Amino acid sequence: MERFLLATVLILGCAATLEVNFNFHCDGTNGDATGFPKEVCYNRHCTKAIKSHIKNEFDAAFLYMHMGAYFAQDSVARPGLAKFMLESASEERSHAILMLDYLNKRGVPISQDLSFTFNETTIKDEHKKESLTVLLALEAAVTMEMTVTNQIHHVVKECQHDFHGADVFTNPILDEQHEGIRKLQGAIQEYKNLLHGHSQPEGKAMVDFIFDQKLLKESL
Ligand SMILES: [Fe+2]
Repeated sequence: MERFLLATVLILGCAATLEVNFNFHCDGTNGDATGFPKEVCYNRHCTKAIKSHIKNEFDAAFLYMHMGAYFAQDSVARPGLAKFMLESASEERSHAILMLDYLNKRGVPISQDLSFTFNETTIKDEHKKESLTVLLALEAAVTMEMTVTNQIHHVVKECQHDFHGADVFTNPILDEQHEGIRKLQGAIQEYKNLLHGHSQPEGKAMVDFIFDQKLLKESL
């Protein structure tokens, strides 16, 4: 009798494990399965949110590239800021690729519903002016990162029933967002600290130079 009970428990345990493994939180209403490979099963709400978010990452990359190109030109010559902006552009692009990798890993069909259209309003008029200052650029970066972080919170919410999707978006992506915002805010404060008592044009020019050289050597 004991052996029979033990065998029954083991069989039920295995069946429960198999169900969990094969379901991957496809709940039938929100989930979808392409049939091959068999493990493919994803949540439509989650993948829709990821697909629409990918363009936000590319928009962020374009804003960083725009500011990086501005600081890199020889008439401006802020190599530290240019390096930081262009590295940040690469990081945003890598986030978009990570998300595309995720969609492919889960067998999500990628068709015309995946739009990479650049949102030109991301680059505002003040970013286009010839006088894009250090502070304006850093504040534009932190504002944009905070917007993107809110958008990622939305993706995590939409992926709450897809543990794998939620995991990818919380770490590394959300973790990097919060770390980036903290560094940017610290850099803004550091710049303001340097500027304290040096607000005249000659003093400000020296502060800009010192800050830029620090970025060039140490990054944020
Ligand atoms: Fe990003």
